[in-house]
Amino acid sequence: MSTGTTDNAARRLHIFDTTLRDGEQSPGCSMNLKEKLLVAEQLEGLKVDVIEAGFAVASPGDFESVRAIARAVKTASVASLSRALSKDIDVAWDAIRDAKRPRIHTFIATSPLHMQYKLRMTPDAVFEQAVKMVQYARNLCPEVQFSLEDSTRSELDFVYRVVEGVIRAGATVVNIPDTVGYAMPEQFGAFIAGIFAHVPNIRKARIAIHCHNDLGLAVANTLAAIRAGADQAECTINGIGERAGNAALEEVVMGLRTRPDFFPGVSCAVDTTRLYNASRSVVAATGSRVQANKAIVGENAFAHEAGIHQHGMMAHSGTYEIMTPESIGLPKNRMVLGKHSGRHAFETRLTELGFAFSDAAVQLLFAQFKDLADRKKVVSDADLEAMARQIQGQSVPERIKLDRFIVNSGNTITATSTVRLLKNGILVEHVAIGDGPIDASFKAIEQMLELDLKLESFSLGAVTGGEDAQGEATIKVRCGERLYNGRGLSTDIVEASIRALLDAVNVLLQERESSAGKSPCLSGESVPKVSP
Ligand code: KIV
Ligand code: ZN
Repeated sequence: MSTGTTDNAARRLHIFDTTLRDGEQSPGCSMNLKEKLLVAEQLEGLKVDVIEAGFAVASPGDFESVRAIARAVKTASVASLSRALSKDIDVAWDAIRDAKRPRIHTFIATSPLHMQYKLRMTPDAVFEQAVKMVQYARNLCPEVQFSLEDSTRSELDFVYRVVEGVIRAGATVVNIPDTVGYAMPEQFGAFIAGIFAHVPNIRKARIAIHCHNDLGLAVANTLAAIRAGADQAECTINGIGERAGNAALEEVVMGLRTRPDFFPGVSCAVDTTRLYNASRSVVAATGSRVQANKAIVGENAFAHEAGIHQHGMMAHSGTYEIMTPESIGLPKNRMVLGKHSGRHAFETRLTELGFAFSDAAVQLLFAQFKDLADRKKVVSDADLEAMARQIQGQSVPERIKLDRFIVNSGNTITATSTVRLLKNGILVEHVAIGDGPIDASFKAIEQMLELDLKLESFSLGAVTGGEDAQGEATIKVRCGERLYNGRGLSTDIVEASIRALLDAVNVLLQERESSAGKSPCLSGESVPKVSP
């Protein structure tokens, strides 16, 4: 199955996306079920070959989301991560068994450091366990992927021995992760070439690579390994992932597409015109923004500021652009709408931006758009997109709505906020003081609803430039063991923040109701997390 060649023979590179597993594992990137399903839908639209949906044994919540994704995905393989333990493999299999193409992804560390200090196992015991668990998984599932964790700090001969052993045991894919982002591109390419040269049964499996970005080299290492013959690249959207992240899918794919001279005959199935949308969906789902100068999907990736560049671009776009904005799905003609725009123009633009909503949702969005157009001179694509994603991300009905708020603050007084909410059709109001108007408003809401919340993270950003820009607030609050995400939009930053908190609180209240009066903080997911 493996090619291990760099010649011109046609070579189909498989893209394995781990945004929902390694990506979700990174601090500040947790997603709820609805958000994970939206991301999975984007990944299918992109045409990735494999979606790693999570680590099923980590918690009951992770199990449920892996199972829901496995049931929802129509064409891609759906993988669950699993330690090389039969009890973990059983849970992984249970979660993915309904997928059209289930894949068990099991792993064990092979570096002396990990074997001695983390696993407390001898190399022989690790080898035996790897082989035994691949055989065990193959008895359940036709697609079994095995990863040699920390392989770039492992002894070469041991890597060859384990790769050969797990392929003999039935692994259909063998993954060589640079777990701690230690490799250098030339060295990693040679490492992969060495595996092709020294493992006799190597062509019976697909060889994958999985690179972390601790030295900022994840994409460079991934591309070097593809040149050396790797058949599967593991990546995440926007490069999110443990610590400094994983190889960014959009960078790897656009690297291949822009420099075919470096990757003769290599192709992948990804529809690059959906990269921009996929990136925006992951930002919306995780609340983790992309830096402005991020390659491919950053705000400035296709902006030309310097006069000399603008002049060149007007003469010929190739002067300063090595790829077109359209190739990643960035609409060329950014359209602006205003208060005189009708529903038809509004709906058409939503469709052009890649959204499909029910009539009722369009009606709601149109009302919000009119309200915004009254406050802002022009409503841009970015504004529309932020509003649409806000609706898309709402997973539960709004039991609690903001009716009004009044804040009183300044540098010489204690901030006070009076918040009035519509709670199940009844108006309730409370006043609280705090460290600034946002804190006072949050306290008023918490006290009024008798909630004990811990603010885990909070960020505010502007959707567009300009004085009348909409503020977008993203929040994560903890209630016991459970984490709730919320987003809020408004041209007023205090209002955006209150809306973000209420977005999270509505999910919490829904859970409280479905757990029949029990505190949502004591619901199923309070089991301690297991991580790889
Ligand atoms: O980085 C890593 O080694 C991993 C494995 C579990 C594949 O994420
Ligand atoms: Zn990883």
